[in-house]
Amino acid sequence: MNYDTMAHVDKCTENKYFLNALNLFSETQWLHNTPVTDLLTKGLLDSFPKEWLNVLEMLGNQELNDFVVEKKTNAHWPNELKAFVEKCKCIDRLPTSNIALLAKLPKEFQLGLNDKKQHEIVHMAHLVHMQCARLKIKMIVDLGAGLGYVCQLLHYLYGYKVLGLEKNQENVNNAKRRQAKMYPESLQHVKYSCCDLTCNSIATIEAVLRNEFQEKSDVCLIGLHACGDLSINASKIFRDMDAARIFIMISCCYHKLSISKDVDTNASVKKQYFNHFPLSTCFKSVIENSNFDIGCFLRQPFLRLACQESAESWTNMTTESHSKHSFYVLARALLQLYATQSRFSLKKRTQKGTRKSQCSNFETYVKDSLKRYTFQSQKETNVEEQDVQFSTEVYEKNIMKLWEMHCDKLKMVELYTALQLVLQASAESLLLQDRLCWMREQGLEATIISVTNKRLSPRSYAIVSWKN
Ligand SMILES: C[S@@+](CC[C@H](N)C(=O)[O-])C[C@H]1O[C@@H](n2cnc3c(N)ncnc32)[C@H](O)[C@@H]1O
Repeated sequence: MNYDTMAHVDKCTENKYFLNALNLFSETQWLHNTPVTDLLTKGLLDSFPKEWLNVLEMLGNQELNDFVVEKKTNAHWPNELKAFVEKCKCIDRLPTSNIALLAKLPKEFQLGLNDKKQHEIVHMAHLVHMQCARLKIKMIVDLGAGLGYVCQLLHYLYGYKVLGLEKNQENVNNAKRRQAKMYPESLQHVKYSCCDLTCNSIATIEAVLRNEFQEKSDVCLIGLHACGDLSINASKIFRDMDAARIFIMISCCYHKLSISKDVDTNASVKKQYFNHFPLSTCFKSVIENSNFDIGCFLRQPFLRLACQESAESWTNMTTESHSKHSFYVLARALLQLYATQSRFSLKKRTQKGTRKSQCSNFETYVKDSLKRYTFQSQKETNVEEQDVQFSTEVYEKNIMKLWEMHCDKLKMVELYTALQLVLQASAESLLLQDRLCWMREQGLEATIISVTNKRLSPRSYAIVSWKN
């Protein structure tokens, strides 16, 4: 095949991939197009196909885990369920991997970092080193550096010079404080600067590099858990910045992508369109040539699914953990149902709505929740806060009554979550394939590499690109 024919075949394959993905996510809206807190309010369980439920209900604990983690199906299952699993497998193009859970970090790096963070920075640093060593790059720019964990490790383990750019001044101050206290010998080699990065930040980055390091060498751009638009802006910086030779980006929080247009419809869902999703011309043109209005179903709840925990988190999950999980999901959905039926909206008083420890008994759950949530009346235009303290008993009684009507749905809720988890990797894959496709359309070589173990760290994939 000549080059043109190969490019044509590739394009057809990509078109088909995006079209198949649109079909899958349009068909499965009952699983991903509504926040799970509205599970009861929006009657999502009513959409659960009866024949699917009949076979899934019969699965033992290990069989359910295997269904989710390994996508194992059974020949006698309904064809539609088997087809759903096959379609999910087909849209999930993410590379499989078996990254070891244990990651040995030097003692001075373990302090204050949980296992997950240690795992992430050690594997990210290793990948960055493998790529940079190939092109003899010595200078790294970390975009959205946070507290500079990976910046420090890259210098400590491999001797890189690192510039950490971060928009939050508090984070920059803390990164500098940590450095001065824990790694004073790195002060000349690892620098932090406050910068709100956009796709127009190249001149700023170059100026900081010149001022802080007095040189103009080639650089590698990295991002670990770059949220929302940052990962897209970083890709554009990489495309346009001459000195940038390698790009290694692990994204997160896809649901924080900026919205370009919110459209209220007569239907209960608001249409949502994003600035940077879809990104590639290929995906955009597939959408244009189809009858799909993605504003109706590739919305924030879909992006949330794409950055949820992965199916692998159910590996070896115990019956007890399953029970706790389904209780937590159903109990929260029930509070939402009560609030909606009573025309209240539910507002968190504290940062965290519920504590996992309360997930044993619904009465305790309600008592605790009433301390943690407040109901606000929706009846007035001037929102008037209800005094929960005075009516706690009434609330408790009403909510308990509602629970009795719905508590038999625990198993169904767990199976609903199981199906969401089966779909999760396909959702993330679609997002990353779109970004990969965009990079190739910009004339950049790019690939997706698995970096972390998904059980410990679900945002596990890096888009890696390089300019030869
Ligand atoms: C999820 S945190 C990850 C931090 C760090 N990379 C890590 O893995 O520990 C994302 C960081 O990106 C920063 N950030 C987000 N948007 C940014 C932007 N436009 N410019 C610079 N930093 C940004 C946030 O303030 C936050 O510290």
